[in-house]
Amino acid sequence: MARTAWDSTVGKKTVMAVSGLIMLLYLVAHMIGNLKIFFGAGEFNHYAHWLRTVGEPFMHYEWTLWLIRVVLVVAVVAHAVSAYQLSRRDIKARPNKYVHRKPRASYATRTMRWGGIILALFIVWHILDLTTGTVHSGGFETGKPYQNVVDTFSTWYGNVIYIVAMLAVGLHIRHGFWSAAQTLGAGSRTRDRALRTTANALALLLTAGFIAVPVGVMTGVVS
Ligand code: HEM
Repeated sequence: MARTAWDSTVGKKTVMAVSGLIMLLYLVAHMIGNLKIFFGAGEFNHYAHWLRTVGEPFMHYEWTLWLIRVVLVVAVVAHAVSAYQLSRRDIKARPNKYVHRKPRASYATRTMRWGGIILALFIVWHILDLTTGTVHSGGFETGKPYQNVVDTFSTWYGNVIYIVAMLAVGLHIRHGFWSAAQTLGAGSRTRDRALRTTANALALLLTAGFIAVPVGVMTGVVS
């Protein structure tokens, strides 16, 4: 039963929609948390510390954080695997395989595929930059995310990588949110406009909220 559901196109689209919404929730929380940087190093670093102690004394140090990490990894893998399988299916199902007059997939589909690849690469870079410090530009210090973020956005390539990724996030959510609503049955002709407006607003809010941080560092508001 579960096997049949997973094998079906609708099943894979449902996996994409649900995992996408989980990641969207995380992004909203992450964006709001990032804005604390405008209240100074004390508040921002304190917030990062709280992320590790949340749920205590029931939870041990970092247990909640690891729980969130596991959920996110499962969501990312499920999202990527179903995206890959759906696009393989789409290419195979094309009857006019050898006729190249028309582009293979629609503009939105191609944007989603490229956007997804850019975001996957960005997440790896981002973790190596601000969680492990492996590719970090300054003297990375665990527990001092304020200074780490300022260092990242003090290099031209740090700003370029993050701003390109944030624009990709916006485009991806703009189309993805609407598609998820269709898959989960929330779409209808009367609601189409409202769904598109919500998708646009969410995309704009997230992109602007995230980009505010590099812009804050570049303009010297955050230093
Ligand atoms: C300007 C934009 C961003 C800034 C300044 C930023 C900042 C940070 C910082 C400082 C951390 C480390 C937190 C800590 O260890 O306490 C972090 C972790 C993380 N961020 Fe971001 N982030 C941004 C955008 C994004 C985006 C767009 C995504 C997803 C597409 C993302 C996903 C993550 C993930 C998955 C982690 C790892 C959490 C962990 O396992 O510790 N971030 N971010």
